[in-house]
Amino acid sequence: MSQINYQQQRDTIEYQDCTIISHDHLAGDQHLLRLDAPAIAATAVAGSFVHLTVAAALPLRRPISIMRVDRAAGWIDLLYKRLGSGTTLLTERRVGDKLSLIGPVGNGFTMLPDRRRPLLIGGGVGMPPLLFLADLLRQQGGYQTTVLLGSEVPFPFPLKPSRLLLPALPCEVMATMPLLDDWEIPCRLASLQGYPGCFQGYVTELARHWLKALDSDTLAGVAIYSCGPQAMLRAVAALAAEFNLPCQVSLEEFMACGIGGCAGCVVEVQEPEGRAMRRVCVDGPVFDAKAVYA
Ligand SMILES: Cc1cc2nc3c(=O)[nH]c(=O)nc-3n(C[C@H](O)[C@H](O)[C@H](O)COP(=O)(O)OP(=O)(O)OC[C@H]3O[C@@H](n4cnc5c(N)ncnc54)[C@H](O)[C@@H]3O)c2cc1C
Ligand code: FES
Repeated sequence: MSQINYQQQRDTIEYQDCTIISHDHLAGDQHLLRLDAPAIAATAVAGSFVHLTVAAALPLRRPISIMRVDRAAGWIDLLYKRLGSGTTLLTERRVGDKLSLIGPVGNGFTMLPDRRRPLLIGGGVGMPPLLFLADLLRQQGGYQTTVLLGSEVPFPFPLKPSRLLLPALPCEVMATMPLLDDWEIPCRLASLQGYPGCFQGYVTELARHWLKALDSDTLAGVAIYSCGPQAMLRAVAALAAEFNLPCQVSLEEFMACGIGGCAGCVVEVQEPEGRAMRRVCVDGPVFDAKAVYA
């Protein structure tokens, strides 16, 4: 495995050729890649991503969030949806092939010590960083995490009825992600597509149901963490404002270098000193929702 450390640019960003351990092709043209990437697994945080070369013929890398890591075994999992030319080429890569990765890139979610009831809201292929966050919170302990996921294509995992109660939600809304049930983390799913056991509507409506049922003391412990399409993130930010909750969102932007050098991914944010331009790749991708959607 060849490695170059971008020590002078960003302390922990590695450049690695990583072998594909497995590549599963799932419903909804979603694909799960497991890569042998020990140096990236060692320092990844929930919200960081890798910038990868999908094929030698396509030099411009593609950013994909890190969904899970096993630091001891040295692998990372990525979940991606086929969208255009780059992700189409990626679907053709086989077990044993090597992919060139830069990572982990970016600042992840920040836990707030006085907010012990994190609400994780994910949409579509925005789910991966939230699964990573749920895993870290479980390992750390001391948090009562709730996960709500929405998708308009089939979920990339089998749906099963949850054995964990989530009061205040309609009782027919009981489908969950099996892995989260195994982790003892309550989760519910939303879709407009009529999938069995899922809430019929947007994931933000499901979140509103849940938040409205909380008493004021419980609500004071909630913070929202979210990743998904722009329209969903705007709705999540509005929901957080409605309930006066802190909220962090992970943004997607078109990226060229992916390591802070080209300013191709800047967004305008509101900071205490005024408006500022920030790079999504290395200043984000996680930002305070109020700063982005002020
Ligand atoms: C920080 C970050 C994390 C991401 N995590 C995931 C993930 O976990 N799973 C997943 O499926 N997708 C993720 N994406 C989106 C993914 O990068 C794009 O779907 C992918 O780059 C599309 O490439 P393409 O060549 O198939 O599509 P095309 O549309 O052909 O791409 C053409 C160009 O547009 C850029 N582009 C297109 N859509 C996006 C987009 N939404 N964001 C950034 N650049 C885009 C590509 O990099 C390329 O330069 C993430 C994006 C960012 C910025
Ligand atoms: S993609 Fe080049 S600075 Fe972010």
